[in-house]
Amino acid sequence: MAKTILILGACGQIGTELTLALRQMHGNEKVVASDIREGGSELMESGPFELLDATDYNALEEAVMHYEVEEIYLMAAMLSATSEKFPSRAWNLNMNTLFNVLNLAKEGKIEKLFWPSSIAVFGPNTPKEQTPQSTVMEPSTVYGISKQSGERWCWYYNRKYGVDVRSIRYPGLISWKTQPGGGTTDYAVEIYHEALAHNRYTCFLKADSRLPMMYMDDAIRATIDLMKSDGEQLSIRSSYNLGAMSFSPADIAKSIQKHLPDFQMNYEPDFRQEIADSWPSSIDDSQAREDWGWEPEFDLDKTTETMLAHLREQMAK
Ligand code: SER
Repeated sequence: MAKTILILGACGQIGTELTLALRQMHGNEKVVASDIREGGSELMESGPFELLDATDYNALEEAVMHYEVEEIYLMAAMLSATSEKFPSRAWNLNMNTLFNVLNLAKEGKIEKLFWPSSIAVFGPNTPKEQTPQSTVMEPSTVYGISKQSGERWCWYYNRKYGVDVRSIRYPGLISWKTQPGGGTTDYAVEIYHEALAHNRYTCFLKADSRLPMMYMDDAIRATIDLMKSDGEQLSIRSSYNLGAMSFSPADIAKSIQKHLPDFQMNYEPDFRQEIADSWPSSIDDSQAREDWGWEPEFDLDKTTETMLAHLREQMAK
């Protein structure tokens, strides 16, 4: 019998598409979506949904028992830019939710869990190009500090208590179904919406800020592949570096201009520039390739083509 999966933060940017993908694979009833608010109609109508605050251990445990959950994907988090504004709320949300699911696994109430880390674990002293799996980290943002600490706790629970936790350091993620909120890489999603709506975009990062990015289909496939892979093959129990493409705001503007020649881009960097400056430009993901066969499919132009096509369709509805 297929196992039952619980997604925490199912209405967010990653959670929405992950839930839909897992429902396709395992059957709708086997994938329980949960969040502190309701999500889009496709998600809400395709399977079970629970209003659930993942910081509340008792409520979480009750849902796990009720649905006989075996696997949890913890996608609830406060992203980098918002976390700078609300440091203690960010710390509480990002860390308490992780401890809750790690402890459920430690107590044998679930079998396996996925927790997302981020390129934000790296900081200004990290080598910027082809950032290695293991290197100087020293994150300089609240969000990055929570992700780096989280990684160490994942590693610790695996080593000390045998918890089967798996994790990826996601780059900036680009998708059309659900918008991100409060991140530094959000411009790479907003830009497509604005390009189609107004043929112009004012970017909050400088033209040459190159950051690691990934199209959502690649990110979902990576997540599912990592969770499916044989635990014995996994040499990293903190979090895997994962790369696909690297581009700057100027590069994405050029890619959009191939479809919308009159598209105009302006630059008004704000506080998010400092965050972007502290992160890598590109990622060495050879360990993920070696351990579980990771390989990206989407480059910048393919992402642009796909984003514009889907958003056009969505706007026409
Ligand atoms: N995309 C995220 C952010 O910008 C990083 O994980 O906050």
